[in-house]
Amino acid sequence: MTRVFSGIKPTGHLTLGNYLGAMRRWADVDQHRADALFCVVDLHALTVDHDPARVRRLTRQSASLLLAAGLDPRLCTVFVQSHVDEHTRLSYALECVAGDGEARRMIQYKEKAVRERERGGGVRLSLLTYPVLMAADILAYGTDEVPVGDDQTQHVELARDLAVRFNQRYGHTFTVPRATRPAVAARVMNLREPAAKMGKSDDSGPGIVYLLDEPDTVRGKIMRAVTDSGQEVVHDPAGRPGVANLLEILAACVGGEPAALAGSYDSYGALKKDTAEAVVETLRPLRERHRELCADPGHVDAVLREGAERARAMARPRVDAAYRALGLLEPVADPVVNAAR
Ligand code: TYM
Repeated sequence: MTRVFSGIKPTGHLTLGNYLGAMRRWADVDQHRADALFCVVDLHALTVDHDPARVRRLTRQSASLLLAAGLDPRLCTVFVQSHVDEHTRLSYALECVAGDGEARRMIQYKEKAVRERERGGGVRLSLLTYPVLMAADILAYGTDEVPVGDDQTQHVELARDLAVRFNQRYGHTFTVPRATRPAVAARVMNLREPAAKMGKSDDSGPGIVYLLDEPDTVRGKIMRAVTDSGQEVVHDPAGRPGVANLLEILAACVGGEPAALAGSYDSYGALKKDTAEAVVETLRPLRERHRELCADPGHVDAVLREGAERARAMARPRVDAAYRALGLLEPVADPVVNAAR
């Protein structure tokens, strides 16, 4: 059976970009057709300046939102990264296979390092090694497919390269994974700055639809989205990125092709109104389920506990095998057995 792994980082409130680019597919498609694991990757949230209490809160909220989005623990494994030590064990091993130049080439590292410096803080070493930890997340589970939005493609490429290199040097240990992307909305853009991705860690709140925004807040943000100076509704991401973004969001919510949907509109106002209503309706069940889950925190805890147990059992043998392949001595409880090796 195909093994699917993907993750979400609790660095901010989850956005419409996270949902349309990743989470919705996990719930609607991946968990039904594959042996799938979905992880709140809390260790990744420590790579930039962070508030411990906020990370803890967002980790729990992200897990609840994954369940609210429809992930069913009877069909897939939902867990928190730091609950499974195998991720960091493997990350170190992969650091011994990765080159520092490879890590420095990552676009997200370059962008975030600039942002951290501008904010006056230092750049944490973990920001540089982050994609190696992400490779470990993926490779520990023998993952075939990694369903992600466009912005993660380069990181998944690195995971592929590391798997191939490790296998060549030390013997076949890892499956070589591949990224899968959604047909539309693989990169939802910021409503106020359509040249930039809608990112949960960004500061520009008015351009970001959060999954837990009230319906009227969602409507307000979409109605105030930056469009372009023209009048005609066409799907032209390069020339008219603001309108193209709305068409992509609308298509992701109601189905159909962005270019075909463009033909049904003769004003930006009508497009914004329909997009706003489509988003509100798409998020409504998620918000309702989230409210129910908040009333039952014990349920979320139990899901995460069982998820971590399952994940640990899946990752352990492969990470152990990687350690052996690298030449690390196996710890053996019985000294007689160890001496004979
Ligand atoms: P993160 O937390 O930034 O995003 C989680 C998922 O949401 C997608 N996404 C988007 N898709 C479309 N439009 C957007 N504006 C948008 N913003 C985010 C992301 O592509 C991603 O699929 N490094 C990862 C987390 C991670 C991971 C992993 C993912 C850690 N280990 C292993 C897959 C496998 C990240 O920061 O995602």
